[in-house]
Amino acid sequence: MEKQCVLVTGGAGYIGSHTAVELIAAGYDVVIADDLSNSDLRAVEGVRRITGVEVPFEQVDCCDREALGRLFRQYRFDSVIHFAASKAVGESVHEPLKYYRNNLTSFLNVVELMRATGRPNIVFSSSCTVYGEADAQPVTERTPRKPATSPYGNTKQMCEDVLRDAVAAYEGLRGIALRYFNPIGAHPSALIGEQPQGMPQNLVPYVTQTAAGIRECLSIFGDDYPTPDGSNIRDYIDVTDLARAHVAAIRRMCGGARRADYEVFNIGTGRGVSVLELVRRFEQVNGVKVNHRIVGRREGDIVAIWADPTLANEVLGWRAERTLDQTLASAWAWQKHLCGME
Ligand code: NAD
Ligand code: WQD
Repeated sequence: MEKQCVLVTGGAGYIGSHTAVELIAAGYDVVIADDLSNSDLRAVEGVRRITGVEVPFEQVDCCDREALGRLFRQYRFDSVIHFAASKAVGESVHEPLKYYRNNLTSFLNVVELMRATGRPNIVFSSSCTVYGEADAQPVTERTPRKPATSPYGNTKQMCEDVLRDAVAAYEGLRGIALRYFNPIGAHPSALIGEQPQGMPQNLVPYVTQTAAGIRECLSIFGDDYPTPDGSNIRDYIDVTDLARAHVAAIRRMCGGARRADYEVFNIGTGRGVSVLELVRRFEQVNGVKVNHRIVGRREGDIVAIWADPTLANEVLGWRAERTLDQTLASAWAWQKHLCGME
C-alpha cells in the first residue's frame, strides 16, 4: 500500500519534532513546515538523526497563503497536523493582535487550502486551557469550556469552533482536536527536546535550568491554594506519549471506515501532580538539587486541573505509558545535552 504523507506544520518545534519522529516510526512520510520563529534547524536535524530519514523541511510561514499554497501543490498530503502557533500565554495578554493574527490566520489558511485541494484529515493542537477553572476534576471532553482567560486561550477555542463548523459544512473534511494537558520531557535519545528562548515560562524548563545552574532559584507560585500541599495541581504528559496520540488520531482518520467528522480528545495521564511534588521527584530521580523558594501566586493560574483520558483510551486506543520519573529523567538528560554536561 502507498505510504500516507503527513504535513507537520510547526514541526521544528517542541511537540511537532517529537511527533514527526513517531509518525516516521509508524510508517508515514512526513514533511515539516516551519517558519523557525520559535525554533531552529537543530530540531529537524535531531529528527533526521533519530529516524535515519532525510525528512523534507520547508521554511514557510503558514500565514503566507501563497507560500503555503505552493507547498500544497508541491506535495500530496493525505493529512495535516497543525502545530504552528505562538504559545506564550503571558505574551498573548500584552500582544493580543500578534496571537490572533498568527494563530488564526495560519489555521484558516491550512483549512482553506485543505478544502481547496481535497486533503481530508486535520489534527489541531488544542489545549486544556480551553477548560479554564472547571467546576469539577478530572475534566472530560463534555466538561463545559469556560470563557478564555487569555488571548492565547481564546485562539484555541476559536480554532476548535472553526474546525467544528468547517467539517460540518464541507463534505470529506475530517478534524480531530487534541486537548493537551502539560507536555514535558524529551525524547529518550536526548537529541530533541524543548528549547525555550529566553526566560522559561513553563515549570519544567525552569526546573532543569535551575538544576543546571543557569537560573539561580525556581520561584514556586503559591503554596496557599486549596490543594493537599498548597501548590497547584497539573497533569504532566510525556511529550513522546503526546506525540503518539497524534499518530493514533491520524490512524483513526485514515482508517477508511466513516468516523464522526469532528472529534475532541483529552490527552493527559489522568493523574494530578502538584508543583512541589514535581520538584521533589525531579530532585530524587536525577540526584540533583533545585534551589527553590515560595513566592506569591502567579496571576491567571488555576488551582488544579487534570484529565479524564478515558475517551482517548477507548476510541483512539491511546494511553500515556511513561512514568513521571522516566519523563523527569528525560528532561534532565536533555538539559545536560543542551549544556554539554554529559
Ligand atoms: P513550539 O513553539 O515549540 O512549536 C511551534 C512551532 O511553530 C515553532 O517551531 C514555531 O517556529 C512554529 N510557528 C509558529 N508560527 C508559525 C507560522 N506562522 N508558520 C510556520 N511555523 C510557525 O510550541 P509547542 O510547545 O511545540 O506547541 C505546539 C502546539 O501545541 C502549539 O499550537 C501550542 O499552542 C500547542 N500546545 C502547546 C502546549 C505546551 O505546553 N507546549 C500545550 C497545549 C497546546
Ligand atoms: C505549571 C505550574 C505554575 C513556572 C501553560 C498554559 C497552558 C498550556 C500549558 C498551552 C503552575 C507553576 C510555573 C514557575 C511555578 N499551554 N510554576 N514556577 O500554566 O499549567 O499551563 O502551559 O496551551 O495553556 O497556560 O503551565 O508550566 O507555566 O505552570 O511555580 O517558574 O507550575 O504556577 O502551577 P500552566 P506552567
